[in-house]
Amino acid sequence: MEKLPVELAHAYHLLNPGGVVLVSVSDGQRDNLFPVAWNMPLCDDPPVACVLSSRDHFSWPLLERSGELGLNVPDASILDAVYGCGKTSGAEVADKFARFGLHREAAAQIRAPLVAEAVASLECRVERIVDVEGCGLVIARVVAARAASRHFRDGGWTFDAGLSLLHNLSSNRFCVSDRVLEARRP
Ligand SMILES: Cc1cc2nc3c(=O)[nH]c(=O)nc-3n(C[C@H](O)[C@H](O)[C@H](O)COP(=O)(O)O)c2cc1C
Repeated sequence: MEKLPVELAHAYHLLNPGGVVLVSVSDGQRDNLFPVAWNMPLCDDPPVACVLSSRDHFSWPLLERSGELGLNVPDASILDAVYGCGKTSGAEVADKFARFGLHREAAAQIRAPLVAEAVASLECRVERIVDVEGCGLVIARVVAARAASRHFRDGGWTFDAGLSLLHNLSSNRFCVSDRVLEARRP
C-alpha cells in the first residue's frame, strides 16, 4: 500500500470522522444549538463525556453559566439542519430550532431543550472545563439518556431500520455509518 506524507494541519482529519453531536444549551432565558465533531466518551461508570468547544461561540456563555448541555445525536435525515446550525451563530439567528426546522423536546434532568428529531440525546452536567489552546474541553457527567427504540436495542445501535449516523469529514462533507460488520473471533 503506497502512503504519502500528510500535512500536519490535516493530521486531525485522519483521526476523524468522529460522530457529530448537536449540542443544545440554555441559560433559562435563551437556548441555542451548535454541532460538535470533536466529542468522545471518557468513562462508562460513571458515564462521562467530553466536547471541545471554542469559547467564541455564542453558545459558550450559555453552557458555562448553566453548567449543562444536551448532546443530541443526529442522523442523515437532518444533515442540512446540523450543518446550518454550525454555519450560523446564535448572535444572528434568534432561534436555530425554528430556522432549521427542528423541534424542542423537554429534557428530564437539565433545562436545555433536546432536539426531537435526534435519534438519541444525552443530558449532561459540566464537571470540569480544561483550557486547551483557548478552547474549553468540557468534561460532563451524563445524567440521563434516551434513544429511538427502533435504532438502539440491547445497549447498541442497530441499522436494520434504516439508520445513517453522521460523521464530519471536513466543512460540509459528511459520511455515514449505516451497517454493522462483525469481526471473526480469534
Ligand atoms: C460539522 C461541524 C462540526 C463542528 N464541530 C465543532 C467542534 O467540534 N467544536 C467547536 O467548537 N465547534 C465546532 N463547529 C463549529 C460550531 O458549531 C459553529 O461555529 C457554530 O456556528 C457555533 O454556534 P453559536 O455561535 O451559535 O454557538 C462545527 C461546525 C460544523 C459545521
